[in-house]
Amino acid sequence: MSPKKLKVAILGAGLIAPNHAAGFQEVPDLAQVVAVCDINRESAENLATLFDARVCTDYRELLADPEIDLVDVLLPHNLHYPVAMDVIRAMKHLLLEKPVAVTYQQSMEIYEAAKKARIHFGVAENTRFIRAYVEAEKIIKAGKLGDITLVRTFLPANERVRLSSNKCWGKKAGFGGGALIDSGPHTFYLLKWLFGEVRELVAFTSQLYKVDSEVEDNADVRGKLACGADFLSSFTFTAEIPHSERLEVYGTTGSLIVDQLVNPPVKFYAEPVDFDGMPLKGPEYDPLGWHYFSIVEEVKDFVRTVVEDRPPTVNPLDCCYAVNVIEKAYESAKNGNKLIQV
Ligand SMILES: NC(=O)c1ccc[n+]([C@@H]2O[C@H](COP(=O)([O-])OP(=O)(O)OC[C@H]3O[C@@H](n4cnc5c(N)ncnc54)[C@H](O)[C@@H]3O)[C@@H](O)[C@H]2O)c1
Repeated sequence: MSPKKLKVAILGAGLIAPNHAAGFQEVPDLAQVVAVCDINRESAENLATLFDARVCTDYRELLADPEIDLVDVLLPHNLHYPVAMDVIRAMKHLLLEKPVAVTYQQSMEIYEAAKKARIHFGVAENTRFIRAYVEAEKIIKAGKLGDITLVRTFLPANERVRLSSNKCWGKKAGFGGGALIDSGPHTFYLLKWLFGEVRELVAFTSQLYKVDSEVEDNADVRGKLACGADFLSSFTFTAEIPHSERLEVYGTTGSLIVDQLVNPPVKFYAEPVDFDGMPLKGPEYDPLGWHYFSIVEEVKDFVRTVVEDRPPTVNPLDCCYAVNVIEKAYESAKNGNKLIQV
C-alpha cells in the first residue's frame, strides 16, 4: 500500500518560500501543499497558484484544520518561537526555517516540546545539503588534511534593500538581530558538522548601514574549536556581490577551499607549492543554483523524515547549538569583545 500523502501548509510566503515550494513540488507522491498563509494576502495568493492551494491570513486557521499534517514555518525570526509552539500544540509536524529561535532557551523549548508531543520536527538548515560541503566532508573525514589548524568562513550577502525597506529585517524586534542571527546559524551548524564544537570565542559587530536599520550588518567571530583549531567566521549584509559562501580549511597535510563564486567551487591543495590545486569531482560551478538546490533537498529530506518515520538528516539539536554559539557571540560583542567559553 502506498503511504498517505502528507497535506502541507506553507506559513510565510516571502523571499524563501518559492524554494521551499519547489522542494514539495519535487515529491508529488509524498506531499501536497494544500494551504498557504501570509498576513499579506497577495503574497499568499501568488504562491498558492503553484499548487491550487487555499489561502489564509491568520495561521490559527491552519492549526484548527485536521486535514493539515505538516506546517512549514518561513516567518521573521521573532515569530519562530511562538508560532512553532502553537504548531506543536496543534500536533502538526513542523519544519522551521533557521534560526530555530532568537534565544537558545527558546530553541531548546521548541525541541523539547516537539519531542514530548512526538511530532516530527526539522530545522530547514540547507547547509547540510550544499554539494560542495558534502564533498568537503569526505576529504576532511578521510583525514586528507591531517590535523586541522585553521578554519575560516565568510558569508557575504547584500541586504541593503531589505534593511531599509522592510518593516522587520532591519529591526531587532523583527529579526532578533542582524547578520549574526541571520547567517550565523549556517556557519555554526557547518563548524559543528565538519569539525565539532566551538570551545571559546570573541566577537566584533558593527553597523555600517544606519539608514532605517538598527541591527549589526557586519560581524566577525573568532576563537578556538574543541578539536584545537583556530577559527574565524565573518558575516556581512553589505557586500556588493551576489549571495555566496566561502570556507577555507587548513591542515597539517593539505588545505581545502570552497567558494561558490569561483570556478571550480571546491579545490584541494596538497602542499605549499601546489599552486593549481585539485578540483573536487561533483560540485559544479553554479553561482545561482547551489543555494536553491540545497533548500529543495532539505525540504525533500524532511518530507521523507515524516513519511518514513525516521530522524531528519539535520539534527535539530545541532541547530539549537548554533543559536547557543550566536548568543555567546552577541554577549562577547556587547561586553567589549570579551573572551567567552561556549
Ligand atoms: N536557508 C536560507 O538560506 C534562508 C534564506 C532566506 C531566508 N531564510 C529564513 O526564512 C525565513 C523567512 O525569510 P524570508 O527571507 O522569506 O523573509 P521575508 O521577510 O521575505 O518573508 C517573511 C514573510 O512572512 C510574512 N509574515 C510576517 N508575519 C506573519 C504572520 N504573523 N503570519 C503570517 N505571515 C507573516 C510576511 O508578510 C512575509 O511575506 C527566516 O527565518 C529566514 O532566516 C533562510
